[in-house]
Formats: sequence, C-alpha cells, structure tokens
Amino acid sequence: MIYEQGLLEPIYAFLNCETPEEWIEKASRPENLSIILRDHMICELKAAQSAMFLIRKYAVDKPSALQLSQWIKPYEEFAYKKMGDLNSLKGKSNVSKQIEVRAGSPYGQELVDKMVLLIKEELHHFYQVMELMEKKQVEYELIEAGRYAKGLLKHVTTFEPDALVDKLIIGALIEARSCERFAKLAPHLDEDLEKFYVSLLRSEARHYQDYLTLAELVSNKDITERVEFLAGVEAELIMSPDEDFKFHSGMPS
Ligand SMILES: [Fe+2]
Ligand SMILES: [Fe+2]
Repeated sequence: MIYEQGLLEPIYAFLNCETPEEWIEKASRPENLSIILRDHMICELKAAQSAMFLIRKYAVDKPSALQLSQWIKPYEEFAYKKMGDLNSLKGKSNVSKQIEVRAGSPYGQELVDKMVLLIKEELHHFYQVMELMEKKQVEYELIEAGRYAKGLLKHVTTFEPDALVDKLIIGALIEARSCERFAKLAPHLDEDLEKFYVSLLRSEARHYQDYLTLAELVSNKDITERVEFLAGVEAELIMSPDEDFKFHSGMPS
C-alpha cells in the first residue's frame, strides 16, 4: 500500500521518537484487534469533542455552541450508551453548520474554520470505524481511557493565551502520533484495515499541521521551546513501560 512520499516527513521531524517495534508487534496480534478498533473509535470521538470544547470556550456564540453539542450528541450516545447504529448515524457528520464567531474573539474565525472541518472529519472516521467493526464482527464495548491524553493535558498552563497554545500544541502531538501509528501499523493488518488506515493519513497529517499553525497564530511569542518540552513529555509517554495496552499506550510491559 503506497501513500504520498513525504507525507510523513514533517511528522517524524515533529515527534521526538518513533513508535517502538514492541508496540507494533502487540497491536498486530489478532487477539488485540478488538481493543485497537474500539479504542480507535473512542479516539475519533475524543478528537471531535476536544475540537468542539476549544471553539465553544474560545470562539463561538451561544447558539453555535448548542448546535455543536447537538451535532456530536448521537455519536456520544452510541459510544457511552450504545444508543443508535450504523443506520441512525449515517450521514450525520456531513451536515453544513452555520457556526458564528463570537464578537471580540481574536483568531476566532481561523479557529472555527479549521476546527469545524476537523470535527466533521473525525465524526466521519468514527463512522468508518463503526462500519469496519461490523464487517469484522467486533462487538462494541466502551473502553476506558489510557494515560496518554491525561499525561499531556496535565502540563497545560493556567493562564491565557498560553493555556490555549498548550492545548493546540497537544492537539498537534496527538494527531501526529495517530498518523505515525496508522502508517506503521497498516502493513501488519488485513487488507480492509490496511486500506482504511492508509486512507486516514492525509487528514490526520493535515489536522496536526492545522493545530500547529493555530498555536503559532494564537501565541504572542515563539513556541519552539514549548513544542520541544511537550514533545518530550509525549515521547516519554510513548517510550516508558505501560501495562495498559491502548492505541496511544507506551512500551508494552
Ligand atoms: Fe481521525
Ligand atoms: Fe484527526
């Protein structure tokens, strides 16, 4: 399976380490397919939710905030309460939204434009994982969150705009890592999954770039050092022993 040359180069330059072989080996085992798919599905929802939280907090007016919550709700109901199915969620990601930027929100429009597209794509990915799970007869059961996102988010600064900048850099790191793992794992999976994971690379690489661009835009200073620090934290979470096997877990112990 081939993807554009150079697509992953900026990702490898941005991340401080590559996924260890031990993780790839574990993730390729057929008995772990269920964990990978269920956790992947929740990751897509969390990606959409965090983008929604960001623009609700920093950029949109009240009616738009409500619209955003309603957009994501059926996906949350499936993930958390097993309500709905492939049929009831069909096409729900792809509705055009009239999201209005709140008055006096600097860089509000840039945030909204990039995040609304991202939410749409993550919800579509969620649906695609659902389809694959049905095809592979993997039953959906809620899966608990690992340490990864929490381990990054605990470093978010308490004052603005640095707090927003940190959240955007963390968004970039999570997207970049997901992209790196999809690419590495794809050749070890069956044809359907390989095709699907390769098809996700381009959008996840763009999501990483969008988050980073926004972080640079929002920050009133050079972010190189902060990126280095958070990339170091991220790499530590990837390389240190982790008993809990998940899509973003560390070194299998
Ligand atoms: Fe995604
Ligand atoms: Fe993404």
